[in-house]
This record gives sequence, structure tokens and C-alpha cells, in this order.
Amino acid sequence: MKTQVAIVGAGPAGLLLAQLLKCAGIESIVVESRSRAYIENRIRAGVIEAGTVDILREAGVADGALKEGIVHEGTALRFEGRTHRLDLMELVGRGITIYPQHKLVADLVSARLGAGDPILFETPVVELSGIDSDAPTITVERNGARETIACRFVVGADGFHGPSRQALPSGDLRIWEQDYPYKWLALMVETPPPSHELIYAAHERGFTLMSMRSPTVSRIYAQVPMNVDAEAWSDDQVWSELDLRLRDGEPVPLREGAITQRSTIHLRSFVAAPMRHGSLFLAGDAAHIVPPTGAKGLNLAAADVAVLGDALKRYFGNGDRSGIDGYSERCLRRVWQVQRFSAWITHALHVSDSPFEQALNLAALRHIVENRHAALSFAENYTGLPLN
Ligand code: FAD
Ligand code: DHB
Repeated sequence: MKTQVAIVGAGPAGLLLAQLLKCAGIESIVVESRSRAYIENRIRAGVIEAGTVDILREAGVADGALKEGIVHEGTALRFEGRTHRLDLMELVGRGITIYPQHKLVADLVSARLGAGDPILFETPVVELSGIDSDAPTITVERNGARETIACRFVVGADGFHGPSRQALPSGDLRIWEQDYPYKWLALMVETPPPSHELIYAAHERGFTLMSMRSPTVSRIYAQVPMNVDAEAWSDDQVWSELDLRLRDGEPVPLREGAITQRSTIHLRSFVAAPMRHGSLFLAGDAAHIVPPTGAKGLNLAAADVAVLGDALKRYFGNGDRSGIDGYSERCLRRVWQVQRFSAWITHALHVSDSPFEQALNLAALRHIVENRHAALSFAENYTGLPLN
């Protein structure tokens, strides 16, 4: 097989890039180790920035998000028993959209397959070769046999655990990693969200995030001790813990409902640089992970591929290399801004062992709701920094 761009991974980064390339008349093959059903049902992110919706629109795949997405013009920070709404629309003229990542992935898959373009499912990439040349290849395992795909560029959009990042020469690769002493219990619950917007609730017992997937389904994340795993708490324990965190002062009117899915998430930051070596580009979680508090991972992945799509368009259009040469630096400047915001809001909302940190966190939250400049800065970052 032969193509212009071989894309490893059918997550949001890989699929969206394929769609952007398609719009520019550039051919690609997307290779995915999992099945179609698996990636279309994998529960992940829920928040899409306005800038990401613009990228989806440019790629011709925004219909689902525009029709079914729930637009939020504000969001709430809750602490000391009070819920403070931040009017994002008034502050920065844009809000956020709630649209589940797995639905976006399903939209992207059906757009691509509907146009007759290939996604090779259940086909793991096992080797990347020749990335120092203009004719790299990827080797895949398909139906028990190995096959090679020849291309001009390889894009590693294969998430944190994929093989692409490992194909960069180790002498060229720099890694920054930060583990946070925080863990979330993530729950899908059949109960109406207690508010029509998200609530980020700091409490001495732990952080809680009230999100949603529909008018009848809540998505709840609760900070838990590091040794608590997904099944450790009974449903009753979950509800009494949530009640303790949300009932003081002005209570959040959360009703109990069936918990249909549970998992845990360790919060961490990770950055790999450069995001390009020779004919290999990294995009999305393959190059960076942010703690989920700021709802940025999916949006960063979309920003990377918007930059990459543009760079490849210029390269294949008229041989202009400036976009591909500048790709890594341009993305990383934004990645570090998003890491900064995500790390800061993560610390501000979580319970720390240090009383001093705890007092600082409270001061940071009060500053956002009491000072318009601080509110503006929060809103600018939360709704998404410009691509530039
Ligand atoms: P992935 O989605 O991980 O896709 C990579 C793909 O590559 C996968 O399908 C994988 O199967 C495939 N792959 C791996 N190895 C191979 C191989 N060898 N061969 C072929 N294919 C391979 N982000 C937000 O912006 N907003 C949120 O609200 C938010 N909430 C989150 C909540 C949770 C619980 C979690 C876990 C994450 C959340 N994120 C959020 C982060 C977001 O989900 C990720 O950043 C996003 O999935 C990154 O997309 P990606 O395409 O880079 O990687
Ligand atoms: C969701 C996840 C987040 O990390 C966040 O900050 C907001 C919403 C969600 O999955 O709905």
C-alpha cells in the first residue's frame, strides 16, 4: 500500500487530521489497533472549545456537535459552600460545547467511511521505519500477516501508549513529566445534571466536578484518595460522599441515580519535544497529556492537527516547508500555555495535604470570582486560547 500521509491512530487527532487533509485533496490512510465499535464507545472527554468547533466546521464535520451539542454560556466555581457563576459569554464572547468525544469520533468515522476513504481497524502499527528519509514506511499487522505502507509523511496520533513517540531517536527527544497527588473517580450516572452548566466544586473533603452528557445523564468526577480504586466505594458510599461535599451552604440539588460506569483517572502532565523528527510528526496525546481539570486534552489534539493540516497543505500545494519546519515549535508554545493553565486550576481546586497550599488555593478561587481581570484570564484560558 502507498499513500501521501500514513496516520497512526483513529482517535480525534488522527481522524480529524485525515478529514482536514481530505478537504485539501491530500490522500491518507488511517490505521487503528482497536475495532470501530470500541473507539465509538470509549468514554472520554466531554468539553469542546469554540475554536475546536471552528476546526470541525472547516473540516465539514461539525453537524453532530452543532445539532446535538449543548452550548454553555457560563460555568460555575463552587467553594466555601457557595456557587459562583462565571458568565463566559459576557467575559470573552464565547462559551463551550458539551459533546461527548465518542460521538465526535463516530461522526469522523462515518464521514470518512461515507466518502469511501480507508480506516484500517484492528490493525496495529508495529514498526515505523525510514523517518530520516523522504520515504518512510509503517508496518502493520493485519489478518495475521505483516504489511507495509509507504508514504511521504507519518503522523503519530496514537495516544500516549502508541509506538510513534518511541520511533523518535532518544537523543533528540526531551520529556517533561509531572504526576499530581490527585486521583479522580469518574462516574456516568442516570440522573439529570443538577445545573444546566458545569460546576467545579472545591471542598475540604475533595474536588467534585458535575458535568453532563444529556439532560438525563450526569458525568461526575470526584477526587478520591490515591489508594481508592474504581470499585472500592459502594454506590451508597459514593452518594453519601457527594452529599457531604455538595450540601453545605447553598446545596447543589443532586438526585441519586443508577451509576452505569466507573473508572479512575490519575492526574498528570506530560510533554515530549520535538513534535517532529524528519518525516514523522506527533499529534495529540502522543506528544502531550494534561490533567483533565481544564478539559483541554481533546482540544489540544484538535489544535495540533489544525496546525499540521495547514502545514501539509502548504507542503503538498507548492513545496513550502515553513509550516512543517515550524510545526513543533508552534504547537509547543500553545501546549505549554495549556499545561500552565491546567496545572494551576488543578492545584487550585484540589485538596492538598499542605495547609499553606490549601489557603493559597482558596485565595486563587476567590480572586477569580472577585476580580474581573482574574475572571477574564480564567475565561480566556478555559474557553480556549487562539490558535496563532
Ligand atoms: P487517543 O484518543 O488516545 O487516540 C489514539 C488512538 O491510537 C487510539 O484509538 C488507539 O487505539 C490508537 N493506537 C494506539 N496504538 C496504536 C497502534 N500501535 N497502532 C494503531 N493505532 C494505535 N479532553 C478534553 O479536551 N476535554 C475533556 O473534557 C476531557 N475529559 C477527559 C476525561 C477523561 C476521563 C479522559 C481519560 C480524558 C479526557 N480528555 C479530555 C482528554 C482526551 O480524551 C484526550 O486528550 C484525547 O482522546 C486525545 O486524542 P488523541 O487522538 O490524541 O488520542
Ligand atoms: C468533562 C471533563 C472535564 O475534565 C472537564 O473539565 C469538564 C467536563 C466531561 O467529561 O464532561
